[in-house]
Parts: sequence; structure tokens; C-alpha cells
Amino acid sequence: MPEPTTRDHGVGLELSGLTKRYGAATVLDGVDLSVAPGEFMTLLGPSGSGKTTTLNMIAGFVEPDAGQIHMGDTPLVGLPAHKRDIGVVFQHYALFPHMRVDANVAFPLRQRRVPKAEAARTVSEMLDVVGLGHLARRYPRELSGGQQQRVALARALVFRPRLLLLDEPLGALDKRLRETLQMEIKRIHREVGVTFVFVTHDQEEALVLSDRIAVFNEGRIEQVGTAQDLYERPRTLFAAEFLGDSNVLRGRVRSADGGVVELDCDGLAVTAPGTAAVGGTAAVVLRPERVTVLDADAQPPAGHNHLDGIVDDVVYLGGRRRLLVGCPGRTMLVDEMAPRRGLTPGEPVRLCWAAVAGTVVAGDPAPATPEPTRAVAV
Ligand SMILES: Nc1ncnc2c1ncn2[C@@H]1O[C@H](COP(=O)(O)OP(=O)(O)OP(=O)(O)O)[C@@H](O)[C@H]1O
Ligand SMILES: [Mg+2]
Repeated sequence: MPEPTTRDHGVGLELSGLTKRYGAATVLDGVDLSVAPGEFMTLLGPSGSGKTTTLNMIAGFVEPDAGQIHMGDTPLVGLPAHKRDIGVVFQHYALFPHMRVDANVAFPLRQRRVPKAEAARTVSEMLDVVGLGHLARRYPRELSGGQQQRVALARALVFRPRLLLLDEPLGALDKRLRETLQMEIKRIHREVGVTFVFVTHDQEEALVLSDRIAVFNEGRIEQVGTAQDLYERPRTLFAAEFLGDSNVLRGRVRSADGGVVELDCDGLAVTAPGTAAVGGTAAVVLRPERVTVLDADAQPPAGHNHLDGIVDDVVYLGGRRRLLVGCPGRTMLVDEMAPRRGLTPGEPVRLCWAAVAGTVVAGDPAPATPEPTRAVAV
């Protein structure tokens, strides 16, 4: 197409107060989200949290009960899907089986009555972008899953939409292929400059791809931020546990002063940055790599929290070593990037961490079944 491909091509997207009910169930409950032009935004959350519903509303396949959607200055609610000019890629490739690859990709251009010669040129360029120029004459059944998904990407981008929606596009592929295509999608996003809204329930995928991530939970957005924001400064327990492993220290708030909270966690004093109501309960999230292992009788540095325990298990995970340390009332996860020395189960150790290494989070600080420390699989 004549237009140059630059990052300026992407359009901003604004969701405000999006709400959807099915019968008595509220599946989206006032979702607000701003996506910047050209941004790669990922909607991340567990099954049933409302990711696809949100995407379907942007695409125009589902109408909200309340709320607004703007693409640039254009209000979308009420506008038929085919007038929105948004590219869409689903988990299942949805290619036309009786059409060759080039005809599949040309389809949106035919619908838009683009002259044949120009369409052929554009299709060939787009197939090159997704690395499939040599397979233009094949039928979908003659392609692997990953190749079919590249065709679907090419078809969704060929009419140069300013926004592309992708709903678990790699969900049906095996891990290796998924990782390869993640890199491809990242490159294509850079190359075409279109705004991407990408849905996944795979946190690693979200971390690899996104400029920012919106964490969904039960029809609401818990937090929006860069991978680093979400990992280092989760605002809720849900966001903390959905992204990465954590130690969660729950306790009663003894003091909260100048942005520093002191908790009494069953006799263990823990300080961390944040805010909380004195006398109430709160939780501190501490990532495993922020904890240091000292000899059992070592003096922790000033201003550090510390906790004594016994090594329960030592696991080698490639470049790092994970320790499970049994402490009074809890098991602590500790990741060591450069282990100082060999440690064996049964050995007493002292754990310490800087007060600033933890974060006070909102959320249910007292679970129904007392379980002071929880690990969530990566
Ligand atoms: N047409 C419908 N009728 C009734 N309930 C629906 C309908 N579509 C979605 N839901 C419900 O809305 C909730 C959110 O569904 P949605 O498909 O948005 O979840 P999701 O986050 O995409 O989940 P997944 O990761 O499993 O794809 C679910 O509880 C689902 O059962
Ligand atoms: Mg879904």
C-alpha cells in the first residue's frame, strides 16, 4: 500500500466503564483502559476473567450493556464490526480451506475492492513480512499450525488496520513454536507500527511481548503496567501471585508512617514500603530473588528484615538455585543467582532482605485456610 509503515500508523484506544451482563452474571464490571498509539497491550488473566469479552466488544462482535469505546476520536459502540476496520486474529486460524494462501490474504482487499494488481503486490509484501512468500500457492491444509497462524496474521494486517486484536493466537501451538512465533509477532509489531491488543492467559508470553499488561480478574482490571511495574510493585495480591513466584507475609499493621508499614507477622517484624490502616491486617509480597541467605549466626545489615530457618530443599534451575527454607509458620522461597557456597537440606540459615525489597499489597490478607506463604508456579 502507498502509505509508509511507521509507528505513527497505530491508533489510540480508550475503554471506559465497559460492562457486560449475561443473565444474572456480570462478566465485565466497569473496565477502564487506555492503550497508546502503536502500543503492544496484553490482556492477561485466568480463564473466564473477561478477556475475550473485552476483545469482542472492541471488534464489534459483542455490544456492551454500558460503557464507551473510542478508537482515536471515533466512538465504536453501535458501529457495525465491518465498519470498524480492525484486524482480528483468533486462536483457531479460521482460514478459508478452499482458498490458497495468497487468496486468503487477498480476501480483505477484495472486499474493499482494491484493484487486482495493487492487491497482488500488497499480498506479496505482507507474506514476506510474515516470512511465507514461498508458500503463497499452497492451501491451508498443506501448512503447519504455525504457518497457518502467520497466514491469519498476514490476512488481518493486509488492509493496514490501525488496530490489531489477537485472542490467544498461539494457544494451539506447541511450546517451541509458540516461542518462535512470539518473536515473530514482536518483530511484526515493530515493523508495521499498528496498535496491538493481545489476549493470553500465559504470563511468560505476556512478559515477552508486551509494552504494558492489563491483569484481569473476574471481570475487572486489577492493575495495568509494564512487566517490571507489575513484578516489582504489584498493587494487589492477585496481581502479585499471577505474575511470578512470591513469598506472602501476612500480619497485623503495627505502624504505618511516611510510606513505610510495619507488620507483626506472628511475632516476626516486617517493614515494607506502602500504606495500610494501623490495627488492620495487610500482606507484604517479597520476590524470591530479593532474599539473601546468610550463615545462621551472621549479623544482617542494618535496616534489613530477617528470619531464621532450616533448608528444606535445594533445586537447581539452570542459571539459578532455588531454596525452600522452613521457617516458623511458613516456608520461604529463595532464589540465588550466584550461590556463595553449597547448601544442603537440614542446614540452619538466616534469611534477610532490605525493607524496600518487599511491597505492601491490597487484597485479602487473611485467607480462609491459614497458609502464611504461598508459591505460585511460573
Ligand atoms: N455468550 C455468553 N453467554 C453467557 N456467558 C458468557 C457468554 N460469553 C462469555 N460468557 C461468560 O463470561 C465470562 C468471561 O468470558 P470470556 O470468554 O471473556 O473469558 P476469557 O477471559 O476470555 O477466558 P479464557 O481464558 O478461558 O478464554 C465467562 O464466565 C463466560 O462463561
Ligand atoms: Mg478467551
